[in-house]
Amino acid sequence: MTAVPEKTLFEQMGGASALRPVTDDFVTRCLADTMIGFFFRDADPETLKLMEYQFSARGLGAEIAYAGRPVASVHARFKINGGQFARRMQILRETCDDHGVAPHIRDAWLAHQDSLRQLVTPQPAGECMPRRASGPLVEHVPAADDGKAP
Ligand code: HEM
Repeated sequence: MTAVPEKTLFEQMGGASALRPVTDDFVTRCLADTMIGFFFRDADPETLKLMEYQFSARGLGAEIAYAGRPVASVHARFKINGGQFARRMQILRETCDDHGVAPHIRDAWLAHQDSLRQLVTPQPAGECMPRRASGPLVEHVPAADDGKAP
């Protein structure tokens, strides 16, 4: 008896016709986002949607070609920080939930994206910009007249 191959997450989700609306909406949300939207001002939305779809489909186990550039070289020039990476993850999570993506597929998708963090940002999870070597971020300078009696 031959074993029936397990369905990929891509197949479980419903294939291209189920995934494409999610990746399209995800890209649309990223482009419109207050925090990270500015990164995409020179990008072509339709190309980006297609590349995100292909890349995500492969991440979910589909045997389709990814025609985009390597992730590390695409993102190197942007100097993306940990908070911006986290924001994109949050947008992906919300998009999945709004489209009713099954939790186990959503979580595997997010885990796959997170495994690529080092290709996109040098900052580890949950970190903001590094502080300067020493001293407070803002020096406290007393006001000339702070209302108190001399
Ligand atoms: C693991 C996380 C990420 C993955 C897997 C990913 C994936 C991709 C892919 C597949 C492309 C298309 C590449 C191409 O057109 O050849 C792309 C482009 C782009 N990504 Fe990401 N990305 C990630 C994180 C981020 C983050 C956090 C930001 C910004 C906050 C970002 C900003 C951009 C921009 C601006 C482009 C367009 C670049 C261009 O057209 O020159 N990406 N990304």
